[in-house]
Amino acid sequence: MKIAVIGTGYVGLVTAAGLAEFGHTVIGTDKDAAKIDLISRGISPIYEPGLEDLLKKTLASGNLSFTADVDAAIRDAGVIFVCVGTPQDEEGRAEMSQIEGVARSIARNLNGYKVVVEKSTVPVKTSEWIKRVIGLYRRGDTPFDVASNPEFLREGSAVRDFLEPDRIIVGVETDRARDALVRIYEKFRERVLVTSIDTAELIKHASNSFLALKISYINMIADLCDRTDADVEQVALGMGLDPRIGRQFLKAGLGYGGSCFPKDIRALTKIGEDLGVDMGLLREADKVNHGRTGQFLDKVKKALWILKDKKIAVLGLAFKPETDDIREASSIRIIRELVKEGAALRIYDPKAMDNMKEIFPPSAQVAYCEGPYQAAQDANALLVVTEWEEFRALDLGRVRELMANPIIVDGRNMFDPVAVRGLGFEYYPVGRK
Ligand code: UDX
Repeated sequence: MKIAVIGTGYVGLVTAAGLAEFGHTVIGTDKDAAKIDLISRGISPIYEPGLEDLLKKTLASGNLSFTADVDAAIRDAGVIFVCVGTPQDEEGRAEMSQIEGVARSIARNLNGYKVVVEKSTVPVKTSEWIKRVIGLYRRGDTPFDVASNPEFLREGSAVRDFLEPDRIIVGVETDRARDALVRIYEKFRERVLVTSIDTAELIKHASNSFLALKISYINMIADLCDRTDADVEQVALGMGLDPRIGRQFLKAGLGYGGSCFPKDIRALTKIGEDLGVDMGLLREADKVNHGRTGQFLDKVKKALWILKDKKIAVLGLAFKPETDDIREASSIRIIRELVKEGAALRIYDPKAMDNMKEIFPPSAQVAYCEGPYQAAQDANALLVVTEWEEFRALDLGRVRELMANPIIVDGRNMFDPVAVRGLGFEYYPVGRK
């Protein structure tokens, strides 16, 4: 059975290469011909650990190929994974025109039974729309099924997440579709949870929103710790030791960013409200998250008072370590605010600087540096925005020598407060003294 993967963004590319690694014959396709050309040569347009190696390996094995001819890829395949983008509109709803376009292409090219699998994160009930669109535009009554198989990959460990999944959710409405998907994930049979399509669609949004909620919760507790003698790192540890709570996703800091959490929590809020459900809980979590950068900047102002003409080193731009992705990164709001206040920024990130240059081109106020030490040179304060391991390993004694004023505002609690202060720094962490 041949598999087509439509869309070669994060999800599509990892899915195509991952399914090929499982031994299936996969054809990846995208309407962006330049991108297909690049990927066909084994070059990944995004930075994702292990992805380029997996691409090269599966291309060389012959299991994976790419084409810009979306129609041909559809005609050739028995199972079609839909991995196109679902960006949010002004009100926070998922914008579904790309999905609808793909559904029409599938209808036009329906030359035999196919299973159409949505893998993009979509609102509950999307598969019903896909089914309706394909039904409306197909010629004759060629049979097809729709299914939902949401992707849970994290940027930075996407390849591992795909190759070693915790669970595989398969939402189907016929045995034929179920059998096709179970066969594709044969290797992980015991980890497959088969549900209805609505349930599968909801599991994705509900999971991401829950994790976002957990982060906002610990950030609220961090604010409480900031105003008392409690230490949020220890509160999180003490809470997390209860297996019902768990230790993961209790890291206080600048809040969540990236392409999923902010978008998914707003999308689920809208879905619920459109259906008449009170989604106030999620609205509050989103509000807490938005407040994180303001809290952080207040600390910068507390340390420096006036920001105009101050030299400020900013370490970390990506929304989290091990990625070059800056979508919804708190660094963007922080830089924008500091520039507005008249500060001169010295910025460094191991991977995300090229992306940031598109938003803030190098200027008198925004200088991109070659390393953290260069950024720290003559700075009046140093801000930690993303917790790259490279920063944990910094020689802080050297940093102190380089800086004009030894002030660190740490948005990610990277350092041991006692050790940092022992080196003569004024240190502002999150939710701890
Ligand atoms: C997330 C989900 O984890 C994944 O399952 C889904 O498919 C896509 O969304 P990703 O966006 O890559 O993945 O990042 P993740 O590692 O989950 O982190 C999301 C954000 O939360 C980051 O900005 C991170 O800095 C922040 N975060 C995470 C915290 O602030 N505290 C934590 O304890 C954990």
